[in-house]
Amino acid sequence: MQVSSPLKNAQFGCRVCPDMGSADFIRWCETHSEEFLDLFHFSGGLFVINGLNEIITHPQLLVRLSRIFGREVENYHETLTNENFFHDQVPEILVLSNNPKVNYGPPHKPSPELTVTGGFPIQYPHRQGWHTDQSYRRPPPDVSLLFGVSCPPLGQGQTLYADATSAYMALDDETKCRIRDLEGYHALTRTGRSLEAVRRGDIPKKLLPHQQSQRHPLVRIHPVTGARSLYLCADEQMDWVIGPIVGLTPGADGEGGEIVRSLMAHLTHPQFVYVHEWDEGDLVVADNRSLIHTATWFDSNRYIRELWRTTVMGNAGLEYARDGKSWIPSEGLAAMAGLEELFRSGADK
Ligand SMILES: [Fe+2]
Repeated sequence: MQVSSPLKNAQFGCRVCPDMGSADFIRWCETHSEEFLDLFHFSGGLFVINGLNEIITHPQLLVRLSRIFGREVENYHETLTNENFFHDQVPEILVLSNNPKVNYGPPHKPSPELTVTGGFPIQYPHRQGWHTDQSYRRPPPDVSLLFGVSCPPLGQGQTLYADATSAYMALDDETKCRIRDLEGYHALTRTGRSLEAVRRGDIPKKLLPHQQSQRHPLVRIHPVTGARSLYLCADEQMDWVIGPIVGLTPGADGEGGEIVRSLMAHLTHPQFVYVHEWDEGDLVVADNRSLIHTATWFDSNRYIRELWRTTVMGNAGLEYARDGKSWIPSEGLAAMAGLEELFRSGADK
């Protein structure tokens, strides 16, 4: 097995090239889970593992590998996700695809398409969509695994990852002090609470108790490494109606919004970012507690981009130790029409 760190053109992450079949590699990981996880955390919570093509025909292997990263792997059937959106044999696998069954289209191109120096846009707000998975839940998930099944060509449909630990460490002391005890409101997407919706004056959708925006510390302490990381999302997954920062002036132009925009621009500076170009058989394992990510445009008229995702939870940290699961509806509510639509709106890339 070949291991190299950091990732090419990045300052964090680790590439793993197993020189064995996928099943043998996963067996090795299971028997060496402690050192495998140490390597993951030491590398900043980002693994790129190449050549696991056998998962395409043996999808259960992905679930086995996921269990190494946490005791609970989300079962999307149990969380009422629309059945079009998860694997028909393995309900722990969320399918992110523009194939007709799923019909999950690409994000918009940045506007303008290139930076002023002709480069590839990475930094917020030029690059949009930055988020950590399912932060509208409390406790939020620990780790997401994304597996490449069908991939567009180089330069399209990438996933960008930003290292929120290094970004936090690079802040000046005054900013660290200012944000130390702040919390953000994280919202379900497509519920009329995004920055764009608030600027348009949309009326937010009514939310049931288990769909309410959730509070998270702006600076999280990693339960394994003890490192501090920024924890926030860009415009779509924060609540700009009552937030985005608890206790500060809400709305698009309030003090909370200023802080979020400023931190997000800092966190997504190219020095903290890794750009992943997908190949079939790639597996990217990302720690949601210390990284954010976003997807880029691809030509969906010419290419199918299909990624499979599993989500692992169970170790969010002391802050969440006494929490139930905010997203589980009380008995009776789950059967109400319309819930599935809201649940699946949480699926992302
Ligand atoms: Fe995501």
